[in-house]
This record gives sequence, C-alpha cells and structure tokens, in this order.
Amino acid sequence: MSEVVAIYPGSFDPLTNGHVDIIQRGCRFFDRIVVGILINLEKAPLFTVPERVDIARIVLKGSANVEVDTFDGLLVDYARRIGATVIVRGLRAISDFEYEMQMALMNRRLSPDVETVFMMPAEPYTYVSSRLVKEVVALGGTVTGLVPTLVEERLREKKMARQTLKA
Ligand code: PNS
Repeated sequence: MSEVVAIYPGSFDPLTNGHVDIIQRGCRFFDRIVVGILINLEKAPLFTVPERVDIARIVLKGSANVEVDTFDGLLVDYARRIGATVIVRGLRAISDFEYEMQMALMNRRLSPDVETVFMMPAEPYTYVSSRLVKEVVALGGTVTGLVPTLVEERLREKKMARQTLKA
C-alpha cells in the first residue's frame, strides 16, 4: 500500500503545545505529516515565516515522520503537489467548528480526493491559541507549559527587541 501523507496547515504564529499535541497524535496514524506554514502576506505576524519554520524544525526534530514546509496559494493545490490526501486540523471547542466546517467543505469542493480529519488536543490545551499566547506575553503574563520552552524564549526575545525599539 502507498504511504498516507497528511498536511497539518496553519499560521503557527507561534507554535503552541496544542499544535505539538495534534502533530504527535497525527504521527501515529499517518506515514508522514507535513507541517505547512502559510505564507500570508496580508497578516502582520509576530514571527516571520523563517522564524516559525526554524522554531517548528527544532521543536519537532525528534519526530521522524514529521516535516516542516511553507506554502502559499490554495491549500488543496499544495496538498496535491506534495501528494497529501489528508488535511489535519485541531478542534478545540464548538467555537472552532463553524470556521473549520466551512474550510473543510470548501476544500472538499475544490479537491474531493483530499479528506479533512479533525483531532482534539489533550484537555490542558483546549483553550490555548496562538493569539492568546501572544496577548498574555505582550501584557507581561507567563505561558509556561502552554508553548514549547523554545517558543517561550523566542517570545521573550521578541518582547525585549520591541521594547528596545520603542525606547
Ligand atoms: O492557523 P490558521 O490561521 O487557522 O490556518 C488557516 C489555514 C492556513 C489553514 C487557511 O487559512 C488556509 O488553508 N489558507 C490557504 C488558502 C486557502 O486554501 N484558502 C481556502 C481554504 S477553504
């Protein structure tokens, strides 16, 4: 049987332990998981795409069947290019559902051969989002345990760099 390649797409600005949890779960079901970091020129991210790639590669280097890549354009076109037949998305709460359902059904319409599979993260991460992590750190709170240690360090460095720029 041919190998099943899954793509786990997202902004990952920054990578959280919720993302890592979903990737580790996916590793058990798929032969390969490609973490696809979206190059989105419209958004103003905290971390550049190369910084996010670097973080993901370091954090995920222990997982043999995980790769980190970037993409732009339609997700389904990228999936086709890399031979992925599965799109993995995490579902934390009902509030995620509407947006995720719209994307899954649009992607199915665009490419019926690619199936979206939803996974729930471990309970401690069900409320964790990249947006909240950035907000908490920017306002002086800590996010220990919610993001990989490396991300915590990089968030601290970003904050210090921004403070220096303002001074
Ligand atoms: O982490 P995010 O920001 O929720 O991820 C959103 C992502 C990257 C999965 C979504 O924006 C996406 O797939 N963008 C690529 C463009 C595309 O294919 N748009 C149509 C999807 S229905």
